[in-house]
Amino acid sequence: MSILIKNGHIVTASEDYVADLYIEGEKIVAIGKNLPMQADKVIDASNKLVFPGGIDPHVHLDMPFMGTYSSDDYETGTRAALHGGTTSVIEFILQTQGDTLRNALKTWQEKSIPKAVGDFSYHMAVTDFNDDVAKEVVEMIEKEGITSFKTFMAYKGALMIDDGQMVQLMKVVKEHGGLVTVHATNGDMIDSLIAKNLAEGNTKPLYHYLSQPEVTEAEASARFCDMLDYTGCPGYIVHMTCEGALNAVRKATQRNQKVYVETCSQYLMIDASLYEREDGAKWVMSPPLREKKDQEALWSGINQGLVQVVGTDHCPFTMEQKAMGKDNFAKIPNGHPAIEHRVEFMYSEGVHQGKISLNKFVEVCSTNAAKIFGMYPRKGTIAIGSDADIVIFDPNKKHRISVDTHHMNCDYSGYEGWEVQGKTETVLLRGMVAIENEKCLLKAGDGKFIPRGKSSLVI
Ligand code: URP
Ligand code: ZN
Ligand code: ZN
Repeated sequence: MSILIKNGHIVTASEDYVADLYIEGEKIVAIGKNLPMQADKVIDASNKLVFPGGIDPHVHLDMPFMGTYSSDDYETGTRAALHGGTTSVIEFILQTQGDTLRNALKTWQEKSIPKAVGDFSYHMAVTDFNDDVAKEVVEMIEKEGITSFKTFMAYKGALMIDDGQMVQLMKVVKEHGGLVTVHATNGDMIDSLIAKNLAEGNTKPLYHYLSQPEVTEAEASARFCDMLDYTGCPGYIVHMTCEGALNAVRKATQRNQKVYVETCSQYLMIDASLYEREDGAKWVMSPPLREKKDQEALWSGINQGLVQVVGTDHCPFTMEQKAMGKDNFAKIPNGHPAIEHRVEFMYSEGVHQGKISLNKFVEVCSTNAAKIFGMYPRKGTIAIGSDADIVIFDPNKKHRISVDTHHMNCDYSGYEGWEVQGKTETVLLRGMVAIENEKCLLKAGDGKFIPRGKSSLVI
């Protein structure tokens, strides 16, 4: 199959020009003005933006968590992602404490390979580190193309490792050229604040927020940076929400450390006032939404190059699942649906509102994740030889977000009625037409596992 995209306004992390793109099979084969090739399909992209498929490096699909499973699986989740212009996701394998990484990998392969509609890769969450796991970490890097290792400084008893394990993991990962990523919040402080609030009869969603003050994230982020400094390992902080945590990274970069930062679209758009609503459970996530001053710090952090990636931490639960915590905020499954709209949100709230440039938009939605997580230049750019993961985007089309029209398997939207400027129109995945006329033309199993190499983003 060959495709010719004509007259698109092509945007990458560093360029911006009008040209044609010619695709053969899975790859981009030619880029230029008035390309002479005949193709099986021709798409007129005049007045449209053409940019590399989005990469969301933080999603949870069919994730066992807090006594239930996130409501999107690999099929519904990656399909919804494609609808919004995200062609690849990186999901989290969770080691069961006391069990091997190998067993966890097998479980995740069974639930992803037959079902994925879009491309995917895995981070390996190390929840129980010891000498045997250290050997498996090396195997994951060298044999399985899994080069990033997720750690949790919270969720004690299920996912959290202690600082001793963290330092040992960092040493192994550094030696073999991988990356340690982290959920950086102080789990012990949070657990004691939760216990105190519940003992005082404070059971509403607002107390989820009040049990995770900014200091819990700032302290853990600083501690993580100090452990990286001690071990010399590169690191990546996921879902950063606040000024205090960003300042910890600012300090780390001043001593020339390699610490990458991801925030998520929700932390740039919505704030903690939502927890005062009766339906506040919809936005219960960890870390929680913060204040307007934190949104400003994060947007600035993006432009200062301190925040390199915008993901989603997509982890949807239905209203019935959220009701597990109706009498106790600590039982509300943490997370919200977001995988579908990240690219459109970042265009609308970022580019359209003048907060970021078009190039920065591509950088944070796609290119930087590809570089940090070792998929570049196969993914994350428009170049000859790259995978033909392409979004054709109408910057002039307005639409409203609604549960009635979204494709995520979740019975609410955290953004109901939100007006968005710009719409994903056509999406190609490795040269296949994935989205056209608001329909997904791919099926379960069309998405492929993408093995990853070493980080290549220089900061
Ligand atoms: O609320 C969240 N973030 N749920 C998913 C698990 C995590 O901590 O990323
Ligand atoms: Zn987390
Ligand atoms: Zn997460």
